[in-house]
Amino acid sequence: MYNPEKFAAVEDNFIHIHGALVRDLARIIEGGERLFFESFPRFARILKAHTQLEEELFFPALEERAPGATSTTEAPHRELEDHLAQLVAWSEGTGFLDFNRVQERLGGFQRELECHLIEERRVVMPAMMENFSAEELWALDGRIMEFCSPEFMEEMMPWWFIHMDLAGRVAVGGNMVAGVDEGFVPVLAQWISDGLDTGAWLELVAQVPALGAGSTRVQVQVAG
Ligand SMILES: [Fe+2]
Ligand SMILES: [Fe+2]
Repeated sequence: MYNPEKFAAVEDNFIHIHGALVRDLARIIEGGERLFFESFPRFARILKAHTQLEEELFFPALEERAPGATSTTEAPHRELEDHLAQLVAWSEGTGFLDFNRVQERLGGFQRELECHLIEERRVVMPAMMENFSAEELWALDGRIMEFCSPEFMEEMMPWWFIHMDLAGRVAVGGNMVAGVDEGFVPVLAQWISDGLDTGAWLELVAQVPALGAGSTRVQVQVAG
């Protein structure tokens, strides 16, 4: 049965990060050679961290409750990792021959990634909601920061908010504000606003006012 509280506790990881990864990769592919060298390494770091989070935090917890629930993700994770490593090497100039070959590989990688993300949403996300209470899901979500360095968060958060539409930003921003200590909200607001222009930031804060409460940027903008 649909439970909005459980949905909110898993949507960031199974819908909104996936959406941002798909968008960014499409942008990179469209952007040709220049964007590949400029943006693929960051995309790769974020996808890698996402996979690691699944394999070290979410999936072992789910396997304990529902053995086999994540088995269909294993082979795709390994394949994606291999193909990602090849593309990263090329993006760093190692063994790079010609961009047509890169583009071919990027297209294949995009199809592989999209299939995998759809499968996680179709199979793993419902299993998470079925096997954990809302409190347990929030507790798992609250452990994400243990797996990410502040430097990584500083890079990932603006990237994430750039590659979401307003509905996604409102959902993720709202979930985050609800999940962190009040004292941490200004840091969160800084990371998020770093990626957005003033109009987009104000649009977000209008719908998630708690996010603006600790931010100097919104006060300056409103006052000005
Ligand atoms: Fe995955
Ligand atoms: Fe995923």
